[in-house]
Amino acid sequence: MKINRDKIPLQKGRLAVVTGANNGIGFHTTLGLAKVGYKVIMACRNREKAESAKSKIMQVIPDAELEIQQLNLSDLDSVKDFVNRFSEQYNKLDILVNNAGVMTMSGQKNSKGLELQFATNHLGHFALTSQLINYMPDNKDSRIISLSSIAHKKARIHFGDIECNNDNGFGAAYGQSKLACLMFGDELNRRLKRSGKKIRSIMVHPGVSDTGLFNEMSWIQSFLFKILEPLLTHSNRDAAMPTLHAILANDVKGGDFLGPTGMLELKGKPGVAKRSEYSKDIGVAEKLWDLSEQLSGIKFIL
Ligand SMILES: NC(=O)c1ccc[n+]([C@@H]2O[C@H](COP(=O)([O-])OP(=O)(O)OC[C@H]3O[C@@H](n4cnc5c(N)ncnc54)[C@H](OP(=O)(O)O)[C@@H]3O)[C@@H](O)[C@H]2O)c1
Repeated sequence: MKINRDKIPLQKGRLAVVTGANNGIGFHTTLGLAKVGYKVIMACRNREKAESAKSKIMQVIPDAELEIQQLNLSDLDSVKDFVNRFSEQYNKLDILVNNAGVMTMSGQKNSKGLELQFATNHLGHFALTSQLINYMPDNKDSRIISLSSIAHKKARIHFGDIECNNDNGFGAAYGQSKLACLMFGDELNRRLKRSGKKIRSIMVHPGVSDTGLFNEMSWIQSFLFKILEPLLTHSNRDAAMPTLHAILANDVKGGDFLGPTGMLELKGKPGVAKRSEYSKDIGVAEKLWDLSEQLSGIKFIL
Protein backbone atom coordinates (compact mmCIF):
# COMPACT_ATOMS: atom_id res chain seq x y z
CA MET A 1 0.00 0.00 0.00
CA LYS A 2 1.75 3.13 -1.20
CA ILE A 3 0.89 6.75 -1.73
CA ASN A 4 3.41 9.36 -2.66
CA ARG A 5 1.77 12.62 -1.77
CA ASP A 6 4.09 14.61 -4.03
CA LYS A 7 2.88 12.51 -6.93
CA ILE A 8 -0.85 12.75 -6.20
CA PRO A 9 -2.51 14.68 -9.02
CA LEU A 10 -4.34 17.79 -7.84
CA GLN A 11 -7.84 16.70 -6.81
CA LYS A 12 -9.55 19.94 -7.86
CA GLY A 13 -13.29 19.59 -8.35
CA ARG A 14 -13.54 16.76 -5.80
CA LEU A 15 -15.62 17.20 -2.67
CA ALA A 16 -15.24 15.61 0.77
CA VAL A 17 -17.32 15.81 3.94
CA VAL A 18 -15.27 15.32 7.13
CA THR A 19 -17.21 15.06 10.39
CA GLY A 20 -15.46 16.44 13.49
CA ALA A 21 -13.06 18.38 11.24
CA ASN A 22 -12.25 21.04 13.83
CA ASN A 23 -9.90 19.03 16.03
CA GLY A 24 -7.43 16.17 16.34
CA ILE A 25 -7.50 13.57 13.56
CA GLY A 26 -10.35 15.25 11.66
CA PHE A 27 -8.38 18.49 11.53
CA HIS A 28 -5.33 16.74 10.04
CA THR A 29 -7.52 14.78 7.63
CA THR A 30 -9.01 18.07 6.42
CA LEU A 31 -5.57 19.66 6.15
CA GLY A 32 -4.25 16.65 4.18
CA LEU A 33 -7.21 16.74 1.79
CA ALA A 34 -6.94 20.52 1.31
CA LYS A 35 -3.24 20.07 0.47
CA VAL A 36 -4.10 17.85 -2.49
CA GLY A 37 -6.85 20.18 -3.72
CA TYR A 38 -10.05 18.73 -2.27
CA LYS A 39 -12.87 21.05 -1.32
CA VAL A 40 -13.81 20.00 2.23
CA ILE A 41 -17.08 20.54 4.03
CA MET A 42 -16.11 20.72 7.68
CA ALA A 43 -19.10 19.13 9.41
CA CYS A 44 -18.78 20.37 13.00
CA ARG A 45 -21.10 20.89 15.93
CA ASN A 46 -19.39 24.06 17.17
CA ARG A 47 -19.04 26.85 14.60
CA GLU A 48 -16.57 28.88 16.66
CA LYS A 49 -14.15 25.95 16.97
CA ALA A 50 -14.62 25.18 13.28
CA GLU A 51 -13.86 28.80 12.29
CA SER A 52 -10.67 28.69 14.33
CA ALA A 53 -9.61 25.37 12.71
CA LYS A 54 -10.44 26.75 9.26
CA SER A 55 -8.25 29.82 9.77
CA LYS A 56 -5.35 27.61 10.94
CA ILE A 57 -5.62 25.59 7.70
CA MET A 58 -5.93 28.76 5.59
CA GLN A 59 -2.65 29.99 7.09
CA VAL A 60 -0.93 26.88 5.67
CA ILE A 61 -2.92 26.67 2.40
CA PRO A 62 -4.26 30.15 1.55
CA ASP A 63 -6.30 28.87 -1.41
CA ALA A 64 -7.86 25.94 0.51
CA GLU A 65 -11.55 25.47 -0.30
CA LEU A 66 -13.22 24.92 3.06
CA GLU A 67 -16.84 25.30 4.05
CA ILE A 68 -18.22 24.97 7.56
CA GLN A 69 -21.58 23.31 8.08
CA GLN A 70 -23.14 22.70 11.48
CA LEU A 71 -23.76 19.05 12.41
CA ASN A 72 -24.54 17.45 15.75
CA LEU A 73 -24.32 13.70 15.21
CA SER A 74 -26.02 12.84 18.48
CA ASP A 75 -29.20 14.50 17.16
CA LEU A 76 -30.81 12.88 14.11
CA ASP A 77 -32.78 16.09 13.33
CA SER A 78 -29.45 17.89 13.01
CA VAL A 79 -28.23 15.14 10.63
CA LYS A 80 -31.38 15.65 8.54
CA ASP A 81 -30.88 19.45 8.48
CA PHE A 82 -27.25 18.98 7.41
CA VAL A 83 -28.28 16.73 4.51
CA ASN A 84 -31.03 19.17 3.45
CA ARG A 85 -28.51 22.03 3.34
CA PHE A 86 -26.07 19.83 1.43
CA SER A 87 -28.70 18.88 -1.15
CA GLU A 88 -29.63 22.53 -1.75
CA GLN A 89 -26.04 23.33 -2.72
CA TYR A 90 -24.54 20.16 -4.20
CA ASN A 91 -25.47 17.22 -6.39
CA LYS A 92 -22.25 15.21 -5.97
CA LEU A 93 -20.09 13.99 -3.08
CA ASP A 94 -16.84 12.05 -3.61
CA ILE A 95 -15.63 11.27 -0.09
CA LEU A 96 -17.41 10.91 3.27
CA VAL A 97 -15.18 10.64 6.34
CA ASN A 98 -17.16 9.44 9.36
CA ASN A 99 -14.53 10.73 11.78
CA ALA A 100 -16.25 12.56 14.66
CA GLY A 101 -16.27 10.77 17.97
CA VAL A 102 -16.79 11.15 21.67
CA MET A 103 -15.45 9.10 24.58
CA THR A 104 -17.09 9.43 27.97
CA MET A 105 -17.23 7.33 31.11
CA SER A 106 -19.99 9.39 32.75
CA GLY A 107 -23.02 7.56 31.35
CA GLN A 108 -24.19 10.47 29.20
CA LYS A 109 -27.18 10.09 26.90
CA ASN A 110 -28.45 12.02 23.88
CA SER A 111 -31.72 13.98 23.94
CA LYS A 112 -33.68 10.79 23.14
CA GLY A 113 -32.14 8.90 26.08
CA LEU A 114 -29.77 6.76 23.99
CA GLU A 115 -26.22 6.06 25.20
CA LEU A 116 -24.20 9.04 23.87
CA GLN A 117 -21.25 7.21 22.29
CA PHE A 118 -23.41 4.71 20.40
CA ALA A 119 -25.73 7.56 19.34
CA THR A 120 -22.91 9.84 18.15
CA ASN A 121 -20.11 7.59 16.96
CA HIS A 122 -22.31 5.00 15.25
CA LEU A 123 -25.98 5.94 14.83
CA GLY A 124 -25.39 9.55 13.69
CA HIS A 125 -22.92 8.33 11.06
CA PHE A 126 -25.27 5.49 10.02
CA ALA A 127 -28.02 8.09 9.39
CA LEU A 128 -25.65 10.53 7.66
CA THR A 129 -24.24 7.84 5.35
CA SER A 130 -27.69 6.49 4.46
CA GLN A 131 -28.60 9.91 3.06
CA LEU A 132 -25.31 11.21 1.62
CA ILE A 133 -24.55 7.96 -0.26
CA ASN A 134 -27.25 8.97 -2.76
CA TYR A 135 -24.98 11.82 -3.92
CA MET A 136 -21.93 9.63 -4.51
CA PRO A 137 -21.06 8.67 -8.10
CA ASP A 138 -20.85 4.93 -8.56
CA ASN A 139 -17.10 4.58 -9.10
CA LYS A 140 -14.07 3.28 -7.18
CA ASP A 141 -12.97 6.79 -6.20
CA SER A 142 -16.17 7.38 -4.23
CA ARG A 143 -15.23 6.29 -0.73
CA ILE A 144 -16.80 6.17 2.70
CA ILE A 145 -14.35 5.96 5.58
CA SER A 146 -15.44 4.76 9.03
CA LEU A 147 -13.19 5.48 12.02
CA SER A 148 -12.90 2.59 14.43
CA SER A 149 -10.37 1.98 17.22
CA ILE A 150 -8.21 -0.78 18.70
CA ALA A 151 -10.78 -0.51 21.52
CA HIS A 152 -13.09 -2.60 19.29
CA LYS A 153 -11.03 -5.71 20.03
CA LYS A 154 -12.45 -6.54 23.46
CA ALA A 155 -15.91 -5.17 22.72
CA ARG A 156 -19.27 -6.79 21.99
CA ILE A 157 -22.54 -5.31 20.69
CA HIS A 158 -24.84 -5.55 23.70
CA PHE A 159 -28.18 -5.98 21.93
CA GLY A 160 -30.84 -5.25 24.55
CA ASP A 161 -28.31 -3.40 26.74
CA ILE A 162 -26.84 -0.68 24.51
CA GLU A 163 -26.12 1.31 27.70
CA CYS A 164 -23.71 -1.51 28.67
CA ASN A 165 -25.19 -1.54 32.18
CA ASN A 166 -24.39 -5.24 32.46
CA ASP A 167 -20.80 -4.92 31.23
CA ASN A 168 -18.54 -3.47 33.89
CA GLY A 169 -15.47 -3.52 31.64
CA PHE A 170 -13.61 -0.19 31.47
CA GLY A 171 -14.81 1.79 28.45
CA ALA A 172 -17.28 -0.93 27.38
CA ALA A 173 -19.72 1.54 25.80
CA TYR A 174 -16.95 3.37 23.92
CA GLY A 175 -15.54 0.03 22.69
CA GLN A 176 -19.02 -1.05 21.62
CA SER A 177 -19.52 2.17 19.64
CA LYS A 178 -16.19 1.77 17.83
CA LEU A 179 -16.92 -1.90 17.12
CA ALA A 180 -20.24 -0.74 15.66
CA CYS A 181 -18.36 1.71 13.36
CA LEU A 182 -16.14 -1.16 12.12
CA MET A 183 -19.01 -3.62 11.63
CA PHE A 184 -21.17 -0.96 9.95
CA GLY A 185 -18.39 -0.15 7.44
CA ASP A 186 -17.91 -3.85 6.75
CA GLU A 187 -21.62 -4.58 6.32
CA LEU A 188 -21.95 -1.49 4.09
CA ASN A 189 -19.16 -2.90 1.91
CA ARG A 190 -20.96 -6.27 1.62
CA ARG A 191 -24.26 -4.59 0.72
CA LEU A 192 -22.58 -2.29 -1.83
CA LYS A 193 -21.00 -5.31 -3.50
CA ARG A 194 -24.26 -7.27 -3.46
CA SER A 195 -26.04 -4.42 -5.22
CA GLY A 196 -23.26 -4.24 -7.84
CA LYS A 197 -22.01 -0.81 -6.75
CA LYS A 198 -18.38 0.32 -7.05
CA ILE A 199 -18.41 2.83 -4.16
CA ARG A 200 -15.89 1.65 -1.54
CA SER A 201 -16.53 1.41 2.18
CA ILE A 202 -13.21 1.33 4.05
CA MET A 203 -12.59 1.13 7.79
CA VAL A 204 -9.60 2.61 9.60
CA HIS A 205 -8.24 3.14 13.09
CA PRO A 206 -5.71 5.83 13.98
CA GLY A 207 -3.71 4.05 16.68
CA VAL A 208 -3.37 6.40 19.66
CA SER A 209 -2.76 10.15 19.62
CA ASP A 210 -3.30 12.88 22.18
CA THR A 211 -6.52 14.60 21.08
CA GLY A 212 -9.67 16.06 22.59
CA LEU A 213 -10.97 12.50 22.90
CA PHE A 214 -9.17 12.16 26.24
CA ASN A 215 -10.48 15.42 27.75
CA GLU A 216 -12.66 13.61 30.28
CA MET A 217 -9.81 11.68 31.90
CA SER A 218 -9.28 12.04 35.64
CA TRP A 219 -6.11 13.86 36.74
CA ILE A 220 -4.40 10.58 37.59
CA GLN A 221 -5.26 9.11 34.17
CA SER A 222 -4.02 12.33 32.50
CA PHE A 223 -0.82 12.19 34.55
CA LEU A 224 -0.13 8.57 33.54
CA PHE A 225 -1.08 9.29 29.92
CA LYS A 226 1.41 12.19 29.79
CA ILE A 227 4.20 10.00 31.18
CA LEU A 228 3.49 7.18 28.72
CA GLU A 229 2.67 9.46 25.79
CA PRO A 230 6.07 9.32 24.02
CA LEU A 231 5.98 5.51 24.16
CA LEU A 232 2.34 4.91 23.31
CA THR A 233 1.23 7.66 20.95
CA HIS A 234 2.06 9.30 17.66
CA SER A 235 1.21 12.79 16.43
CA ASN A 236 -2.31 13.74 15.34
CA ARG A 237 -0.88 14.20 11.84
CA ASP A 238 0.40 10.61 11.77
CA ALA A 239 -2.85 9.35 13.30
CA ALA A 240 -4.69 10.84 10.29
CA MET A 241 -2.54 8.84 7.85
CA PRO A 242 -4.67 5.65 7.78
CA THR A 243 -7.68 7.82 6.84
CA LEU A 244 -5.72 9.69 4.16
CA HIS A 245 -4.44 6.38 2.78
CA ALA A 246 -7.97 5.02 2.64
CA ILE A 247 -8.98 8.06 0.59
CA LEU A 248 -5.96 8.55 -1.64
CA ALA A 249 -4.26 5.18 -2.22
CA ASN A 250 -5.10 3.28 -5.41
CA ASP A 251 -4.69 -0.21 -4.01
CA VAL A 252 -7.24 0.04 -1.19
CA LYS A 253 -10.26 -2.23 -1.56
CA GLY A 254 -13.76 -1.99 -0.17
CA GLY A 255 -13.87 -3.80 3.20
CA ASP A 256 -10.18 -3.14 3.98
CA PHE A 257 -9.35 -2.21 7.57
CA LEU A 258 -6.28 0.03 7.86
CA GLY A 259 -4.30 1.28 10.83
CA PRO A 260 -0.77 1.90 12.10
CA THR A 261 1.53 -1.11 11.81
CA GLY A 262 4.01 -0.35 14.63
CA MET A 263 4.14 -1.76 18.16
CA LEU A 264 0.69 -3.02 19.24
CA GLU A 265 -0.77 -0.98 16.35
CA LEU A 266 -0.50 2.11 18.55
CA LYS A 267 1.53 4.05 16.02
CA GLY A 268 3.55 3.68 12.85
CA LYS A 269 3.07 3.61 9.12
CA PRO A 270 -0.40 2.74 7.83
CA GLY A 271 -1.08 -0.77 6.62
CA VAL A 272 -3.51 -3.65 7.11
CA ALA A 273 -4.95 -3.62 10.65
CA LYS A 274 -5.83 -6.60 12.84
CA ARG A 275 -9.40 -7.12 13.91
CA SER A 276 -11.21 -9.31 16.40
CA GLU A 277 -12.96 -12.52 15.28
CA TYR A 278 -16.21 -11.16 16.73
CA SER A 279 -16.02 -8.11 14.44
CA LYS A 280 -16.10 -10.44 11.40
CA ASP A 281 -19.41 -12.06 12.41
CA ILE A 282 -21.82 -11.33 9.56
CA GLY A 283 -24.85 -12.33 11.64
CA VAL A 284 -23.99 -9.72 14.28
CA ALA A 285 -23.34 -7.08 11.59
CA GLU A 286 -26.76 -7.72 10.02
CA LYS A 287 -28.45 -7.56 13.42
CA LEU A 288 -26.65 -4.26 14.13
CA TRP A 289 -27.85 -2.91 10.76
CA ASP A 290 -31.46 -3.83 11.63
CA LEU A 291 -31.14 -2.26 15.08
CA SER A 292 -29.67 0.91 13.56
CA GLU A 293 -32.58 1.18 11.12
CA GLN A 294 -35.01 0.66 13.97
CA LEU A 295 -33.38 3.22 16.29
CA SER A 296 -32.92 5.84 13.56
CA GLY A 297 -36.26 5.25 11.86
CA ILE A 298 -34.34 5.18 8.56
CA LYS A 299 -34.56 2.40 5.97
CA PHE A 300 -31.01 2.34 4.53
CA ILE A 301 -31.56 1.34 0.90
CA LEU A 302 -28.70 0.97 -1.60
N1 LIG B 1 -7.16 9.88 19.47
C1 LIG B 1 -7.08 8.58 19.56
O1 LIG B 1 -6.14 8.01 20.17
C2 LIG B 1 -8.11 7.71 18.90
C3 LIG B 1 -7.98 6.32 19.01
C4 LIG B 1 -8.92 5.51 18.38
C5 LIG B 1 -9.95 6.06 17.66
N2 LIG B 1 -10.08 7.43 17.60
C6 LIG B 1 -11.20 7.96 16.83
O2 LIG B 1 -10.76 9.02 16.01
C7 LIG B 1 -11.85 9.90 15.73
C8 LIG B 1 -11.41 11.34 15.90
O3 LIG B 1 -11.22 11.60 17.28
P1 LIG B 1 -10.01 12.47 17.84
O4 LIG B 1 -9.11 11.55 18.53
O5 LIG B 1 -9.49 13.37 16.79
O6 LIG B 1 -10.77 13.28 18.99
P2 LIG B 1 -11.14 14.84 19.14
O7 LIG B 1 -9.93 15.68 19.01
O8 LIG B 1 -11.95 14.95 20.37
O9 LIG B 1 -12.06 15.08 17.87
C9 LIG B 1 -13.37 14.56 17.83
C10 LIG B 1 -14.21 15.41 16.93
O10 LIG B 1 -15.54 14.89 16.97
C11 LIG B 1 -16.43 15.98 17.22
N3 LIG B 1 -17.67 15.55 17.86
C12 LIG B 1 -17.86 14.99 19.08
N4 LIG B 1 -19.17 14.82 19.32
C13 LIG B 1 -19.83 15.28 18.22
C14 LIG B 1 -21.19 15.41 17.85
N5 LIG B 1 -22.18 15.05 18.68
N6 LIG B 1 -21.49 15.91 16.63
C15 LIG B 1 -20.53 16.32 15.79
N7 LIG B 1 -19.22 16.27 16.08
C16 LIG B 1 -18.88 15.75 17.28
C17 LIG B 1 -15.63 16.90 18.14
O11 LIG B 1 -16.22 18.16 18.19
P3 LIG B 1 -15.94 19.17 19.44
O12 LIG B 1 -14.56 19.72 19.20
O13 LIG B 1 -17.03 20.16 19.31
O14 LIG B 1 -16.02 18.32 20.68
C18 LIG B 1 -14.29 16.87 17.43
O15 LIG B 1 -14.30 17.72 16.31
C19 LIG B 1 -12.98 9.46 16.67
O16 LIG B 1 -13.91 8.71 15.93
C20 LIG B 1 -12.28 8.59 17.70
O17 LIG B 1 -13.15 7.63 18.25
C21 LIG B 1 -9.19 8.24 18.20
